[in-house]
Amino acid sequence: MNQIWNSERYAENARFVSDLGMPVVEWLDPKAGERILDLGCGDGALTLKLQELGCEVVGVDASADFVDAARSLGLEAHLIDAHQLNFIGEFDAVFSNAALHWMKQPDRVIQGVWQALKPGGRFVAEFGGDRNVVTIVTALHAALQQRGIDPDQINPWYFPMVKDYQFRLEAQGFIVNRIALIPRPTPLPTGIRGWLATFADPFTQAISPSEREGFLNEVIARLQPDLCDDSGQWFADYVRLRFAASKLF
Ligand code: BEZ
Repeated sequence: MNQIWNSERYAENARFVSDLGMPVVEWLDPKAGERILDLGCGDGALTLKLQELGCEVVGVDASADFVDAARSLGLEAHLIDAHQLNFIGEFDAVFSNAALHWMKQPDRVIQGVWQALKPGGRFVAEFGGDRNVVTIVTALHAALQQRGIDPDQINPWYFPMVKDYQFRLEAQGFIVNRIALIPRPTPLPTGIRGWLATFADPFTQAISPSEREGFLNEVIARLQPDLCDDSGQWFADYVRLRFAASKLF
């Protein structure tokens, strides 16, 4: 079961993902004229920002809808799964925001990034780290288990610990200059229903269509005490893993 990306739904429910991406852009420290690969570029909002800073940016994403959305902003974007990168030594930096946690074979991704970079190139990214959205994951898993479905076969996300991802980067040959796990509780502009509608397809698709509404209502009821405040504002318990690494040779 796959996540189905819809750029309009994403813009409505998840614009905060790119809006909150500036700290990782600061870690990237992009310079005008640099050639940068945006890995999992989504609808291109941050890719555009890099281009506006004077970089020559190429976006790649595994969703055709996102690639179309990025191209409609005038960006160069290609439909490529990040597990199958085939660029050789052409980028000064590889950048990624909120995408690596969808890539469940991290060593293949890291190897492709390494190959894509010039000597001296940087790999700078932010994604979900250990215990990211753990309250949401726990509720989704419990509601699936109650229906006799094994959630581990369904869960599409990879949220590693710092030492796990650092080990993988260093095993490839990267020097890790900075790496941190950053809790970031995040207000949800369209509530938890909008978040689940945007990001939780693999879980909801495991449920027959006639039972999906009941499934979602149960998940939301489980989450309300922890993620919704007295005024009705929902939050997601995001934890970001942010790093900056270099390929020295
Ligand atoms: C995240 O950005 O951390 C995230 C987004 C959607 C699903 C899971 C995690």
